[in-house]
Order: sequence, then structure tokens, then C-alpha cells
Amino acid sequence: MILVTGATGHFGQHTINTLLAKGIAANEIAALVRDENKAADLKDKGIQIRVGDYHNTSSLSAALQGIEKLLLVSSSDLNERLTQHQNVINAAKENGVKHILYTSIDIENFRDSAIPLVSQIHSDTADYLRASGVAYTLLDNTLYADLVPMFAGQNVLETGIFFPAGEGKTPFVARSEMAEAAAVVLTTSGHENQEYAITADTAYSFGDIAGFISSITGKDVNYYSPAKDEYIAQLVKVGVPEGDAAFFAGFGEAIKEGQFDTNRSDLAKILGRKPLGLEEFLKSIYGA
Ligand SMILES: NC(=O)c1ccc[n+]([C@@H]2O[C@H](COP(=O)([O-])OP(=O)(O)OC[C@H]3O[C@@H](n4cnc5c(N)ncnc54)[C@H](OP(=O)(O)O)[C@@H]3O)[C@@H](O)[C@H]2O)c1
Repeated sequence: MILVTGATGHFGQHTINTLLAKGIAANEIAALVRDENKAADLKDKGIQIRVGDYHNTSSLSAALQGIEKLLLVSSSDLNERLTQHQNVINAAKENGVKHILYTSIDIENFRDSAIPLVSQIHSDTADYLRASGVAYTLLDNTLYADLVPMFAGQNVLETGIFFPAGEGKTPFVARSEMAEAAAVVLTTSGHENQEYAITADTAYSFGDIAGFISSITGKDVNYYSPAKDEYIAQLVKVGVPEGDAAFFAGFGEAIKEGQFDTNRSDLAKILGRKPLGLEEFLKSIYGA
């Protein structure tokens, strides 16, 4: 039995759908959800629903019973995230889970990046998992291509791209293909104690992205990389809470530092094909 956490979220749902598409029987898949009301679709598909919260250790102990393989999708709840991940790993170990996959991050420097809250938690979780004694696989995900429209801004065709990422490049991948890679690792052998870079083999800058959007839409889209403080001030001016603006700016800075341009990529090997190119992905967003 495979259990997927974060099953009401995008990554978890894509993974479960890929498992089903690969012919894994629905009654061999369990979904960890914290709100059963959000799980009607999964229930309709015949997936076993296990209710549990990363903060609640007894709910996790019950949810992990009888599970052989676990996909721990990193938490989106920023409150004590490391403890949440540790709670899941502890419950898996207690229940004799044989293999734990964890969605980490592919970044050059975990300890010294402009997004320390993100990178250090992944690093600490990975260390905890390695030391757990349970077989593990680290899926080091690069940034989702799905984030590009958010960083580029809602009115990108009128305003151009205003984002403090300099000329830094990122090997963006569609979230659905990252989840597909997780499903492949869950259903094939030989992945114990491995770490994979879930990245595209080509990295692109926001200047490249502006060029792609221009050629897709036929509109002239420019890219301007402001200083971090200018970016935060502009976002605050249009109503974005300062903490959120600083968080987004951190991603821009990390890209500018080249933190995601790691020159590692195992994705094509795992998928058995090249992932969708970024321009093709952007066509699905900006094409007519
Ligand atoms: N690589 C990237 O570019 C990137 C970008 C964004 C996020 N991420 C990371 O990747 C993860 C998956 O991405 P996603 O797009 O699938 O995120 P998502 O759609 O926000 O899904 C997050 C899932 O985590 C669940 N969750 C949150 N807190 C929980 C808790 N305390 N107990 C149990 N479940 C909890 C959520 O449950 P509810 O439905 O009940 O809220 C949801 O199912 C994120 O959580 C984040 O850590 C990576």
C-alpha cells in the first residue's frame, strides 16, 4: 500500500492520478488529508482516505498503519514545518514503512541562500530522513514552472515583467511532471537511498521568459529586474502584505544568485522522455 500526503494539494493529486493511470489499483493507494470534506473526489475514485494532520502525532500513527511506501509531500503550512515533517517520518518508522520519498529542493547552497526558511527546512528534513534508518529517496524539485505566471505578474502583457531575478537562470519544470516522476519512483525498483534532481536540462532567465511570452502573444513584453527594496516597496504599494512581498523577493534573489542553476538533472531518465520545454508550458498559459 502506497500513502501520499498532501493529497488534497496539487502535487499529491497529480501523483495519485499518475499512479492510477499507471494501473495501480485504487485500493492500493491511501491519501493523507487533514480535511475529509476536501477528499470527495479521491473517495469517489476508490482511494483510501486517512485523516491526519502533520501537527497531530496520534493521527499520523493511525494513518501510517499498513503502509509500505510513503510519499511525504513537503508541508505548505509554514508553522514549525521541520517538526511536521519529523512527525510524519517518526510515524512511518513506528509503523514499519519500508521506503519514504520526500519532496525536497534542488538548490546550490541549502545553508546560505536568500530563501533560508525554505532551503534549511528541506535540508534539515533530508538529514533527519537519512538518519532515520528507513530507506529514502530525495526528490530535489526545482521551482515549478507553474510559479512563472505569479512571478511575472497578472498584467504581464501590459506592464512587462518586474521581478528581482537579474540574469539568473532556473531549470523550471511543470509541477505535473514532477509529480509524475514521484509516481515513477513509487512504482519502480532501485531507488532506495537515492537523491534525484527533478529539474529540466535547460535553465532560463526571466529575460528569456519575457522573450517567450512576447513570441507566444505577439506583444512586446520587457523584463526589468529592480533592486530588492524597490520590488518590495512596489508590491506593498499595490496591497501585497510586506511579509509576502519579502518572501517573493527572496525567490528573485535566490534565482539571481544562480541558486537553482545547479546543472544537475535526473528527470528525463526517470520519466523516460524529455520533460515539456518551458516555452511549450508557457504556450499553455499565454497561448490563445
Ligand atoms: N518547488 C516549488 O516550486 C514549490 C512551490 C510551491 C510549494 N512547494 C512545496 O511543495 C509542496 C507541494 O506543492 P503543492 O503545489 O501541492 O502545494 P499545495 O497545493 O498547497 O498542497 C499542500 C498540501 O499540504 C497539505 N497540508 C498542509 N499543511 C498540512 C498539515 N498540517 N497536515 C497535513 N497536511 C497538510 C495541504 O492540505 P490542505 O488541502 O488541507 O490545505 C495540501 O494538501 C508545498 O506544500 C510546498 O512545500 C514547492
